[in-house]
Amino acid sequence: MTMTVARAQKQEMMKNTNPEIEFKIDSLLQLMTVEEKVGQMNQYNGFWDVTGPAPEGGSAEKKYEHLRKGWVGSMLSVRGVKQVRAVQKIAVEETRLGIPLIIGFDVIHGYKTLSPIPLAEAASWDLEAIKNSASVAAAEASASGINWTFGPMMDISRDPRWGRVMEGAGEDAFLGSRIAEARVHGFQGDDLSAVHTVAACAKHFAAYGFSESGKEYNTVDIGASTLHNVVLPPFKAAVNAGVRTVMNSFNELNGVPVTGSSYLQRDILKGEWGFDGFVVSDWASINEMINWGHARDKREAAQKAVTAGSDMDMEGNVYIEALAQLVKDGVVEESLLDDAVRRILRVKYELGLFDDPYKYCDEAREKETIGNAKHHEAVLDMAKKSIVLLKNDTNLLPLKKEGQKIALIGALASDKSSPLGSWRIASDDDTAVSVLEGMQNYSGNSLTYAKGADVFVGQAQFIQEVVVNDADKSGFEEAISVAKNADVVVMVLGEQGFQTGEGRSRTNLQLPGVQQELLEAVFKVNPNVVLVLNNGRPLAISWADAHIPAIVEAWQLGTETGNAVAQVLYGDYNPSGKLPMTFPRNVGQVPIYYNFKNTGRPDDKDGNVFWSHFIDVEKTPLYPFGHGLSYSTFEYSDLKMDGTSFETGADIVVSVQVQNTSPVDGKEVVQLYIRDLVGSITRPVKELKGFELVELKAGETKSIRFKLNNESLGYYNNDGKFIVEPGDFKVFVGGSSITRLESDFELK
Ligand code: GLC
Repeated sequence: MTMTVARAQKQEMMKNTNPEIEFKIDSLLQLMTVEEKVGQMNQYNGFWDVTGPAPEGGSAEKKYEHLRKGWVGSMLSVRGVKQVRAVQKIAVEETRLGIPLIIGFDVIHGYKTLSPIPLAEAASWDLEAIKNSASVAAAEASASGINWTFGPMMDISRDPRWGRVMEGAGEDAFLGSRIAEARVHGFQGDDLSAVHTVAACAKHFAAYGFSESGKEYNTVDIGASTLHNVVLPPFKAAVNAGVRTVMNSFNELNGVPVTGSSYLQRDILKGEWGFDGFVVSDWASINEMINWGHARDKREAAQKAVTAGSDMDMEGNVYIEALAQLVKDGVVEESLLDDAVRRILRVKYELGLFDDPYKYCDEAREKETIGNAKHHEAVLDMAKKSIVLLKNDTNLLPLKKEGQKIALIGALASDKSSPLGSWRIASDDDTAVSVLEGMQNYSGNSLTYAKGADVFVGQAQFIQEVVVNDADKSGFEEAISVAKNADVVVMVLGEQGFQTGEGRSRTNLQLPGVQQELLEAVFKVNPNVVLVLNNGRPLAISWADAHIPAIVEAWQLGTETGNAVAQVLYGDYNPSGKLPMTFPRNVGQVPIYYNFKNTGRPDDKDGNVFWSHFIDVEKTPLYPFGHGLSYSTFEYSDLKMDGTSFETGADIVVSVQVQNTSPVDGKEVVQLYIRDLVGSITRPVKELKGFELVELKAGETKSIRFKLNNESLGYYNNDGKFIVEPGDFKVFVGGSSITRLESDFELK
């Protein structure tokens, strides 16, 4: 990085920073040795949990020794006030300068009391509920000594083969941006120094969700248009929302590992966007540049990463081993370290850690905060709102509350761990309310449970593969006999909690193991089946869609899973969720998403095969983005605009009437899409540009208004420049991305 760029970036950053804090940082920097500066850029994993491969040479003894020398700026995965206080005490009381540690943790969807997985929360489209969910996570994490969460993850992805789709907000940049903002505000609150808030972390910067074939830690080759219009917008939204840290990622982007990408981390993030927080590497991503073949050794990896703007090395042992010598050898300018350390110290000051390094270490507060009733209510509310009713053809749902014989089948129905998802390192196994327990709260019916078949065999753990049960059908007979005598059969099928998440890419998107056979065997003796999915990714459930009358997408809903599912099945909560990610008919359709390009041959108008399609499956998905039913029914009409031709830059008002045409009060996510018919860069056939969660009483009609402006109608060209082009546009409004209610306008 040239000095002029560094100075320009510093001036940009200085605009919004606190002069008092900056003065303190300058004073402290002058006292620090090169080794102490490198120390601030070094993050170690706590000695209790490993969330990634332990690097060679890492050891508790060495970490304690470095802690005492002031060579550690941050720890991650240190759990609980006692343990945090212990390491903080060393940093503050036993080192020369007493610089406090910043303590990070993967608080992805809750700390101890878990919300639904982030993809499920995204299905609620309820930004207030999502923000509240993040604030509950922050309250419990900060009460446990944590002051920095490695979330929200905002990797847009169109590929459900990738295990980490569960961790994000789905396939759309607009929805993903709004959710990123809500989560950053939820984690950080209005005052970062407040003891119940934590610094958030926009991750993984960038394009991890476009990993080739959905394979984990893989290459990413995408064009400028996808990068600027799909991948980056949520990160920019997070920076504009004030996120204080960013985490880079394991992938390379177009041949350059992002941890070594000055284009991403300096030109865009810190330059163009003026981000003044700090960038932490993902776990050992810096030294993995050696495996990528981008660095000869740790010394070159350190040089490339610090030059590219990676400020902190997570568990890589690269900066601590090589950076000081690189400075002494004149290969790396010390000003690069000063820039990184300034950013790290800035966030520590903003958290109030210098005022009171033990402010997050209050055991009484830990005791009264973790798992309190208010948090259970919040995660239950979030869980109910995250459920998506995919199908209810014969109105089998809601279930009658009495006089019914209900059969409940499926190992996941009694599983109290899987509903917690895979990112639950601070929570405890068997702490979710199971669907069985939730259903037992409704005593008006007879309820008989049969497991039917295990989803997996052996022990399921965070860092081990789940061994799927694809042979043992010994429970089928009991399940079939229970189903035969029931009025309604509720089947809870899907994925074990550790079949999605990091390191869990799948090539098969069907129900794992023998569950599909179980579903078909039960359906044969009783067609009145309600399928409840417990899963962390879109599944290709074409057979179920063709046969099963009612299908509910219940994801992995966290601690209150069973109560949320039961309240929806029994109609005490009218489902309002909408899919944040497309469900394919089969894995061969992947990637499949709603905002696709029209192509030069969009349909078979000539009645031949020469058009964009597969010959062995329909072009449409099983369930489209934005799809979700309700126990109510909604009708859209009277789509209007305040004109048919507008000057570029004008605000454009779009209104629509929505009526609840049922006798049941309900909620509807009213969605607004546009299409820019002609662009110098081709534009998608639809783009989400607005949505509103609307409550409608039985029979009620409301007029919903949206405003479109340049921000809505423009896009980034291949130079990364935001442009608005005059021309013809369409507007669509409805309850999903396949809505046909449309209007046209011209932009002059
Ligand atoms: C993991 C994940 C990252 C997480 C970090 C710390 O490998 O990629 O999202 O925050 O390491 O656990």
